[in-house]
Amino acid sequence: MRKPIIAGNWKMNNDISETETLINMLLPLVAGAAAEVVFCPTYLGLQKAVEMTKDSNVGIGAQNMHFEKNGAFTGEISGEMLTAIGVKYAIIGHSERRQTFNETDEAVNKKAIKALSLGIIPIVCCGETLAERESGKAKAKVVGQIEAGLKNIDDISKVVVAYEPIWAIGTGKTASKEEANEACGWVRETIAKMYGQDAADKVRIQYGGSVNPGNVKELMAMDNIDGALVGGASLKPTFSEIVKF
Ligand code: G3H
Repeated sequence: MRKPIIAGNWKMNNDISETETLINMLLPLVAGAAAEVVFCPTYLGLQKAVEMTKDSNVGIGAQNMHFEKNGAFTGEISGEMLTAIGVKYAIIGHSERRQTFNETDEAVNKKAIKALSLGIIPIVCCGETLAERESGKAKAKVVGQIEAGLKNIDDISKVVVAYEPIWAIGTGKTASKEEANEACGWVRETIAKMYGQDAADKVRIQYGGSVNPGNVKELMAMDNIDGALVGGASLKPTFSEIVKF
């Protein structure tokens, strides 16, 4: 049985005081959720978030991390720096990082390997554009991202994959439960080819893209969907309804 995992990606929202306010509001609401719950604030809010959630059911994740330990990488934060403050998860290769910051599958792979070596659970993102979906290339895109981004992993069962069709992110347009499940199935099938079916059956695969309290239940009922990576709706009190789907 795969334990569901629901993560809120707060993206570039909330200064420190707003982060504190949001955590204070959400913590009592998400307490008792059966799913594993993760908040991913900005780098600036991480330390405060770890302190505030230390006796709770919530784990804290970064929205990115560098694969080197330190050095001349202006603007970057290393996995070692994250573990030093108690961060337990890192979103890796989000489509916004791939598209806006030119993050490649090769970098995603290095980051995922590094995260695992430090005991950080990587939430590795994949997903196609609208043009790729409309031209029948969605499967090839997702399979390619998984093959390249998840190669040479020691323990694949610790990896969380987030399938996020880019056309569904922040648009209010959710993939249908069938489309989402089919794509999460492509992810599992690819991992099975790479690491064997037993290992693939242990990997948790999230769906992301306009998840909200109204659609989470039907998505979570699908056999290949084990959680959600939530953007906009994770900044509201109703995030608790999502984690308690
Ligand atoms: O990381 C989260 C996703 O990009 C989904 O964002 O829920 O606002 O569509 P959204």
